[in-house]
Amino acid sequence: MNHRRALRAAVTIAVTGALAAAMTMTLTSTASAGTTLRASAAEKGRYFGAAVATGKLSTSAYTTILNREFNSVVAENEMKWDATEPQQGRFSYTGGDRLVSHAQANGMSVRGHALLWYQQQPGWAQNMSGSALRNAAINHVTQVATHFRGKIYAWDVVNEAFADGNSGARRDSNLQRTGNDWIEAAFRAARAADPGAKLCYNDYNTDGINAKSTGIYNMVRDFKSRGVPIDCVGFQSHLGTSLAGDYQANLQRFADLGVDVQITELDVMTGGNQANIYGAVTRACMNVSRCTGITTWGVRDCDSWRGSDNALLFDCNGNKKAAYTNVLNALNAGPAIPTDPPTDPPTDPPTDPPTDPPTDPPAVGCSASVSLNSWTGGFVATVKVTAGSTGTSGWNVGFTLPSGASVTNTWSATASGSTGAVRFANVNYNGRLGAGQVTEFGFQGTGSASGVTPTCTAS
Ligand code: G3I
Repeated sequence: MNHRRALRAAVTIAVTGALAAAMTMTLTSTASAGTTLRASAAEKGRYFGAAVATGKLSTSAYTTILNREFNSVVAENEMKWDATEPQQGRFSYTGGDRLVSHAQANGMSVRGHALLWYQQQPGWAQNMSGSALRNAAINHVTQVATHFRGKIYAWDVVNEAFADGNSGARRDSNLQRTGNDWIEAAFRAARAADPGAKLCYNDYNTDGINAKSTGIYNMVRDFKSRGVPIDCVGFQSHLGTSLAGDYQANLQRFADLGVDVQITELDVMTGGNQANIYGAVTRACMNVSRCTGITTWGVRDCDSWRGSDNALLFDCNGNKKAAYTNVLNALNAGPAIPTDPPTDPPTDPPTDPPTDPPTDPPAVGCSASVSLNSWTGGFVATVKVTAGSTGTSGWNVGFTLPSGASVTNTWSATASGSTGAVRFANVNYNGRLGAGQVTEFGFQGTGSASGVTPTCTAS
């Protein structure tokens, strides 16, 4: 070996040594990372979740895995329209409440799924159309999001509203036939009802840049440009035996619009590629700083709606599969969400500012303020009633609605009149207020209520 060659060899060894040292450091930091999906995801500022059928929460083999590995849950069916409003105006929250309690007791966040969807509608809604359906749908969004207010990390406000295939267009449905603005009306109503929840649009067959995902992309871009409140897009990711090469690029283009992205219903057909696909999806999420979490659609293979596809991370005996190891490794190897992520403020300003900002309680009586969430042809009004210094045993709030405006639904109050001078009286559980105490009621209407001011009378 001549001198020059010896020098080159020495440099090569030194560089190789440096690389090896760097790799050792990487491996060392990987080795100290989490040993469960939830710990590893949390270490990177993300969540790892599972869809839960609440009936299984009493099976200890199931909850052992759920509580050990997951720090986010979503109801597989219990928060859907048919479950939460089986009869019009009669709400049932048993399953959803049970899941929320379980989550709160075990340090888990909750994704809400789904406020409006063309499937799993109760029979009464399936038979409705036009403005009756629109009003019922917006009322549903308002009621359910209000019930769970403060408990939901992100709501799938609208699920699966785009058509499959090459059109990039909306899917035909009874909801779509109420007018193209039904989605934005739903998002505005959800924001008014739970300003702290992230509001997501959720769909499947969006696992790459294709006509369907582009249709959704254009809607999100339009919503952002017009101030329609949307915070996130869910990519269900029910996957087969291959993964689109532009899966990550597709997530990134949505993130670049200024929304978070989430993998919301991940499951993958069994076979040679399953573990690789799980790893690749996890890496893609980790590589997109606005990808805030991953949810698998179930816990064990036998819990899955996909039956014999064996599509999940645990086998039916609760053993970790190769796919589990790939996901865990990808979580541990991936970058953390930057400490100062480019998130939007959690709430968009309401379309109409409150016309009567809350003031100090008056000496006696009561005061009221209203916050309006309006869209073309309709509105939801949220009214705050504050008791004066002597408290109330009942209250009554009046508005004079502009001509053309009409009340269609009321909650937590009893309405008299629907047009012109309308009044809202307390119901039996919210009439008695201590001094300075606050309660809320709401109503929905058609037309415009812009500029209305409430007057409050106490008894
Ligand atoms: O609870 C009833 C039971 O009382 C009845 O005897 C039985 C008879 O069919 O049905 C039971 O309800 C079933 C329910 O799951 C609970 O098991 C429904 O029929 C069945 O349709 C329903 O399927 C759900 C499906 O959504 C509905 O479309 C699946 O569990 C659920 O995993 C699946 O989840 C969807 C997401 O919400 C949206 N994205 C796609 C995903 C997979 O299809």
